[in-house]
Amino acid sequence: MAWYKEWFGQDYLELYAHRDVEEAERHADFVEKVLVDGSGGSRPRAVLDLASGAGRHTAALRARGYRTLGLDLSLTLLTQPPPLPRVAGDIRELPFADASFDWVLNFFTSFGYFDNERENFRVLEEIARVLTPGGRFLIDLFNRDRVIAGLVPTETLELNGGVAEIERWFDQRTERVNKRIRIRAGGDERSFVESVRAYSEQEVTIGLRWAGLEHDQLYGDFDGTPFGPGSARLILVGHRPMEGAG
Ligand SMILES: C[S@@+](CC[C@H](N)C(=O)[O-])C[C@H]1O[C@@H](n2cnc3c(N)ncnc32)[C@H](O)[C@@H]1O
Repeated sequence: MAWYKEWFGQDYLELYAHRDVEEAERHADFVEKVLVDGSGGSRPRAVLDLASGAGRHTAALRARGYRTLGLDLSLTLLTQPPPLPRVAGDIRELPFADASFDWVLNFFTSFGYFDNERENFRVLEEIARVLTPGGRFLIDLFNRDRVIAGLVPTETLELNGGVAEIERWFDQRTERVNKRIRIRAGGDERSFVESVRAYSEQEVTIGLRWAGLEHDQLYGDFDGTPFGPGSARLILVGHRPMEGAG
């Protein structure tokens, strides 16, 4: 089974517990600053939280009055409290009509999961399809060079009643950052893989253009610092051009 169908369950939630609601609030501050203030105060009619996980961004944005819907593949994450409007679906084939959303937001490295480049870029095509002309997108990825340079090959983490042993490596042939996670808890042992294509900013911006999207700004963090070689993140913000533009 594909790794992304197995990994995003209870063990993921525990291992990434620091990716929490407080962090999502800071991301929502950034979204408001860049997408609302930066565009003359215009507010979206409908927002898609693409690969929404347990819904921390969906909740943060809804609390601020943005009509936001989450979409994810993991039923374990989709059914976490609180109750929120969210649907099960695959990011390669969104169950929405064309031009349904004014914003599509994709937080925390939820892109580059598929082995095949065509499939990864298909996600960008789907973002373009469901955005209204002039609609905005945000894609939040890791900074490839920084992650590869700083890769910690092995690590042991204490969990609630267990331990996680993590191996990390970069595969130059496939250009992927891989992680093997072995969890031992209560006499049980489980093993998972995480494998994400490490895209450069040029590769993603070319993919965006190919899909019919334009990037406006590349940020290196959620404080709004422009992207540079040492940035923590690669946050792409852009839009779907108006019909007939360009
Ligand atoms: C790293 S998590 C990020 C979740 C959320 N954006 C957040 O910041 O908490 C990646 C998410 O992508 C979802 N995902 C993975 N493959 C997917 C697919 N093919 N279609 C829809 N969602 C997918 C996972 O279930 C998981 O919730």
